[in-house]
Amino acid sequence: MAELDQARAIVGRLPPGTKAAALRALLYSPRLEFLMAAHNGISARIVEEAGFKGIWGSGLAISAQFGVRDNNEASWTQVVDTLEFMADATRIPILLDGDTGYGNFNNMRRLVHKLEQRGVAGVCVEDKCFPKTNSLMVGARQPLADRDEFCGKIQAGKDSQQDPDFCIVARVEALIAGWGLDEALRRAEAYRRAGADAVLIHSRSRRPDQVLAFAREWAGRCPLIVVPTRYYSTPMAVFRRAGIAMVIWANHLIRAAVSAMQGVAREIHDSESLVNVEERIAPVEEIFRLQGADELVAAERRYVSTRRAGASALILAAGRGEGLEAVTESLPKVMLPVAGRALLRRLVDEFQRQHIQAITVVTGYRAQAIDLPEVALIHNPEHGCGGELTSLSHAALAIGDDTVLVYGDLLFRGYILGDLLDTPGEIVAVVDSAIRDRDRPDAAYCSVPDDRAVFRQEVDLLRIDPCRGPEGGAPHGRWIGMLRVRARGRRWLTQGLTALQARADFARLAMADLLNHVIAAGHPVRVMYIHGHWLDVNRLEDLPRAGEFAQGLR
Ligand code: SPV
Ligand code: MG
Repeated sequence: MAELDQARAIVGRLPPGTKAAALRALLYSPRLEFLMAAHNGISARIVEEAGFKGIWGSGLAISAQFGVRDNNEASWTQVVDTLEFMADATRIPILLDGDTGYGNFNNMRRLVHKLEQRGVAGVCVEDKCFPKTNSLMVGARQPLADRDEFCGKIQAGKDSQQDPDFCIVARVEALIAGWGLDEALRRAEAYRRAGADAVLIHSRSRRPDQVLAFAREWAGRCPLIVVPTRYYSTPMAVFRRAGIAMVIWANHLIRAAVSAMQGVAREIHDSESLVNVEERIAPVEEIFRLQGADELVAAERRYVSTRRAGASALILAAGRGEGLEAVTESLPKVMLPVAGRALLRRLVDEFQRQHIQAITVVTGYRAQAIDLPEVALIHNPEHGCGGELTSLSHAALAIGDDTVLVYGDLLFRGYILGDLLDTPGEIVAVVDSAIRDRDRPDAAYCSVPDDRAVFRQEVDLLRIDPCRGPEGGAPHGRWIGMLRVRARGRRWLTQGLTALQARADFARLAMADLLNHVIAAGHPVRVMYIHGHWLDVNRLEDLPRAGEFAQGLR
């Protein structure tokens, strides 16, 4: 161990300025260190964000993401191009699984040269013949390279590197090829003498015995790396005690990606819908984040002058909640927790997910319990005696040229708000065609029923009425308490509000009365049909149902 300890002491003092230096520091670290495999830019970034200090550029995973076999079917330049994306996307060092070096000593020289140019910290080469076969493939031929020829390859690589910290790891495949411990040790020692910075001893045994026996005999002559894909149940304490320098988790992200993609693809194929997967896969915003989209937005702000007026939201949250008195002694209905998050918090999060930042909440009952710093509050002092239109009249100025108006007790799947923001119309009301009971409040009568075979059907709202529609037939659905209002629609609403304020029963009027007034004045109110995937909280029994529903949301 003495040699290795000495080297560790020297490397430990080096500031890890370059990625190569960082990889070298990992190899000589006094702790057991880990590399996680990645196969492209985004997976490399995910590895870094998970907290790993280094990346394994796995040949198996990179070939798999190309959809080809791990038999050098992808050309070495295609591999190096992939590595360039991975290096650009991350700050931690990458050790490339360079297979056999893609040829002889001369190919190895050019490989090292190109990897250094592209910010790759090191390369691991294995002592097999080109084209190689994946080491875990049972039954495949695994012919070994001539030992001296392989030593020449390592020497050529070391002689051609520009950065003294660039690491060349010699991978010993003797155990994979069915040779014994002695041959593995003989080869490892020859490669170390030829200049290898570390040795990777590979085994596909289900137990760690082979690599542990190797480690015992190796006795710390230079850092030793293992890849416990097959002997994965081995506790790390075993490797620590054996003096292993580094463990490589070699293929787990490509396998995780494959399982996730298979499940989602099957689900979408079978259901012909995105609705069941949307909320359990990464939102596109997460992809943007991983791509570094924020940086481009900031750069655009610096270099391009663009202004875009944003949408806003107005949330009616003044009520205590009739029927919910038992749980709303100290807080308004919208602050009731549902699956650990207040209803209003969920609503605000949903708006923010759609990039709506200007959010106003009309408060009333127990207003002081509303503690969301990012929203503007407007208080309705008449909340005890007034209806929804009283709240709206206090907040009329908060309706902008593009505002989503919504009841504060709604829970809904994210796509509903997203679709509403994409639906044209000066006023658009969201109507659930799955609820067609006549005596429900907010029963909606529309120009045509929901034809679910038509996407973006053009439908007008005729009337909202708990009793009966214009022709006395059954309602076409239920208005869910969500509305989008654009510039002209805002004028229609505010004119309607002013007209209704003159009525003696104004304090009892609801949003439905205002919409009916706007329609009666000859203005179109468009309908966006949905079919379930939402609920509101009106009674105590709704709370557990809401909890269950919210569990299924993001
Ligand atoms: C790889 O990740 O490509 C490796 C490790 O070389 S193994 O698949 O175990 O051979
Ligand atoms: Mg490989």
